[in-house]
Amino acid sequence: MQIQENFSLRQYNSFGINAGARFFASFKTLEELEELVDHARHHKKLVLGGGTNILLTGDFDGWVLKNDLTGIEEAGETGEEIFVKAGAGENWNSFVQYAISRDWAGLENLSLIPGNVGAAPMQNIGAYGVELESVFNGLEAYHLKDKAVHSFTVGDCQLGYRDSIFKNKLKDQYVILNVSFRLRKQPVFHTEYGAIRQELERMQVQELSIGAIARAVINIRSSKLPDPAKIGNAGSFFKNPSVPADRFRQLEKEHKGIVGYKNPDGSVKLAAGWLIEQCGWKGFRRGDAGVHAHQALVLVNYGAATGKEIYRLSEEIQQSVRDRFAVTLEREVNII
Ligand code: EPU
Repeated sequence: MQIQENFSLRQYNSFGINAGARFFASFKTLEELEELVDHARHHKKLVLGGGTNILLTGDFDGWVLKNDLTGIEEAGETGEEIFVKAGAGENWNSFVQYAISRDWAGLENLSLIPGNVGAAPMQNIGAYGVELESVFNGLEAYHLKDKAVHSFTVGDCQLGYRDSIFKNKLKDQYVILNVSFRLRKQPVFHTEYGAIRQELERMQVQELSIGAIARAVINIRSSKLPDPAKIGNAGSFFKNPSVPADRFRQLEKEHKGIVGYKNPDGSVKLAAGWLIEQCGWKGFRRGDAGVHAHQALVLVNYGAATGKEIYRLSEEIQQSVRDRFAVTLEREVNII
């Protein structure tokens, strides 16, 4: 285990922000994590997974601990289901493709989401009509103060839209070690969201399969979302805001074409990308900070933008959406 001092985090955040860490080390086992936590006991700590959902607004004066806990194991089965446990440091998409190669269904719509397995319950990831909740079966996490491993059921995690107890009440208290999934032996296909069906037709898929859905999702994502290896970004920068149904009806009258999806509780989730585009931000660039040309919900770093510049841009976007629609956009990305 190597401990580095004054270390550049550029390669460790998908925004590609060149911020530094006072100390940096990665852990591959629980024992290594415990050792590092001991070293870092008098300092601030930041536990890093894939670094795909953070914006570093300055140097981190403390310890950055990179989670490299890997391993995928089968943990039992029933007639219909297979239980699988994956290390929090496994790359999410590699895990999804591994499951597909074993014919374990349920993750295919979540293909190509950047980040690691540990972030899936933290963020409660979701895409193309499937939420993590439909496959999630609990997790184990290390309590930084108590120095003990605790098990969490799905209910314990208090999952919400891009939200969980680990972003709220238990923020910065736990390191997620591994995540358990319940996958299906017989697939249930979800092709109703957005352009999936259209893409399957374009691909001339004759027989639907989880592999075909994964390929369709990968094609759609690649066409809309910038590849962090080429243009720094952290996916959707803001959450899609919800408004009460009567407020949506009023907005619809005032703003033709506004995009909204009904929530189960009757409120309406607005497409933040649409709101931002209407304010004229799509494709905007100032220096190396910008708004993606194909998806206005994604802020980008063309190379040398600082975290502060991206943050400032996000404030301007929030202000103009507030001025025009009286709607507040909440950031989805963690600001460090
Ligand atoms: N739209 C615009 N202009 C834009 C972008 C979007 O008008 O610049 C409109 C689209 O036309 C569409 C609607 O907004 O009618 C929704 O767009 P899209 O399907 O691209 O999805 P999204 O709501 O912007 C969410 C997730 C994504 C996820 C996609 C697909 C959030 C914050 N984002 O985006 O997740 O991949 O749905 O399921 O919920 C992420 O969380 O980082 C992420 C990428």
